[in-house]
Amino acid sequence: MKEFLLFSRTGYTTGNFKSLMEAGRLDIVYQCILTSAFRAHGHRSDVVFHAILNGSPNPPLHLQINADGLRNARVDESSWAEILRDVLNGGEHAGISLEKASLQEVIKEKAADYKIFALVEGKRNVQDLDLSGNALFVVGDNSGLPRKDEGFVLRYGKRLSLGRFSYLAASCIDVINYELDLRETPQ
Ligand SMILES: C[S@@+](CC[C@H](N)C(=O)[O-])C[C@H]1O[C@@H](n2cnc3c(N)ncnc32)[C@H](O)[C@@H]1O
Repeated sequence: MKEFLLFSRTGYTTGNFKSLMEAGRLDIVYQCILTSAFRAHGHRSDVVFHAILNGSPNPPLHLQINADGLRNARVDESSWAEILRDVLNGGEHAGISLEKASLQEVIKEKAADYKIFALVEGKRNVQDLDLSGNALFVVGDNSGLPRKDEGFVLRYGKRLSLGRFSYLAASCIDVINYELDLRETPQ
């Protein structure tokens, strides 16, 4: 299984919002869902996406999206605004769950069975890393991973860098999925 985790410093923990962007940048959560869970004509079967939402009023919340179990989810932003609004207000949606949990709790739970990677800008090393087997990739939002949380993730895993340019979190997930596709299903 391949899993992606976005640490959102400000993502709202309520569904009471006008737009994803104004909801503490839940639009970044949407973008990461898109690149984690979808190929052009359907969901990926072996991907789970997590977001830790640290915005008001009830942080932290752990949003989990199991791509294989997703139903009735198109790829446009307005559909996802509706889905996230509903789930954050206590509604149910196939393939999606929400619980009260912190980054630390999720990482500790995964560390037993998963390789953990913290995505951080720097000297490119993705080509040298063994990404086979279960792996969890942790990305920061538009402000990056807070230093202490990055340190925590690195206690359980390794730094993974795509180079010195800073890319959008969703672009990083796209690149990792592409790398995994190439390695696991040579074209
Ligand atoms: C828009 S970037 C954050 C930029 C922010 N200014 C910072 O200094 O962290 C969002 C996240 O994408 C990931 N990222 C961006 N560029 C990367 C790269 N070249 N290699 C690895 N991860 C990257 C990191 O996890 C980063 O926290």
